[in-house]
Amino acid sequence: MFRANEFIDKSVLELKNKISGKALIAFSGGVDSTVATVLVNKAIGNQLVAVHVDTGYMRKNESKQVKEMMEDLSLNYRFIDASKDFYAVLKNVRDPEKKRKIIGREFIKIFEKVAKDENIRYLVQGTIAPDWIESGDELRDTIKSHHNVGGLPENMKLTLIEPLRDLYKDEVRKLARELKLKISERQPFPGPGLAIRIIGEATPKRTKIVRDACDIVEREIEKSVDQDLMEKPWQYFAVLIPVRTVGVHGDKRAYGNIIAVRAVQSIDAMTCAYSEIPQQVLENISTKITNELGGKINRIVYDITNKPPGTVEWE
Ligand code: XMP
Repeated sequence: MFRANEFIDKSVLELKNKISGKALIAFSGGVDSTVATVLVNKAIGNQLVAVHVDTGYMRKNESKQVKEMMEDLSLNYRFIDASKDFYAVLKNVRDPEKKRKIIGREFIKIFEKVAKDENIRYLVQGTIAPDWIESGDELRDTIKSHHNVGGLPENMKLTLIEPLRDLYKDEVRKLARELKLKISERQPFPGPGLAIRIIGEATPKRTKIVRDACDIVEREIEKSVDQDLMEKPWQYFAVLIPVRTVGVHGDKRAYGNIIAVRAVQSIDAMTCAYSEIPQQVLENISTKITNELGGKINRIVYDITNKPPGTVEWE
């Protein structure tokens, strides 16, 4: 049995002993990084600098909400809008592993600059067990390089601290509940963000499309969960498939892209089963996306793949 209160006490003590001076944490606003932040903050107070990077691949209003959260938690924080830089380094990049590694490196570049400017020696990350297990090592194949693992340079100057490294998501959620964090039940969102929910090149235009589609999927599914029409999935989102198919929009021929709707149930993200979304909810999602994205999307498909053989994200 995982005892959250004991883990918190032990971890804060260990962090106090391990860190002398300032530390930096990559704060995404998700459950993992928020729990890691609160633990380190308990250990070293505002010697911890929380850095939120708006990569340009965040969901609708997400970075604004993260900023409010950093204020609510009274953190010593920096907010960096790096969207132009991320779009630039991902220009013409289509391969999923290349995308992930470039994103990881870009994050580290930003963190190293803040660390240098502010004389910080430690980098804290909210890495959990599935992140490094699936990123592979000498004993395991790489399934995909999680951005917080695969992007780390070998000669990184910062000492890495990962207080949640041995935990699974359900355990991190228990910590979040124990710490009374509002985000304890929030669905996971990958560090590389919407960039890995766009198959192929993650251009700003495509990002806007998948961001709007993700927002619709989230709102429609949350509404149906509130109405008890379905169980809350572990994760639910949209994926943009930039393949064009023929349709009609109004009374005109449309030649638009495809959105896939993905919702899954899981315990630890190592395996998952696709969620059964009620027919009416699927239809609402389909109508809303095709109406609101005016001709850019004219076909919606529903992903019914488990993991394995699929993975949660498409890239
Ligand atoms: P996959 O797609 O590997 O996803 O089945 C398992 C879980 O991990 C999330 N995910 C990531 N999280 N950095 C993260 O912080 C990443 O690079 C990354 N890739 C996938 C995914 O959303 C799911 O919850």
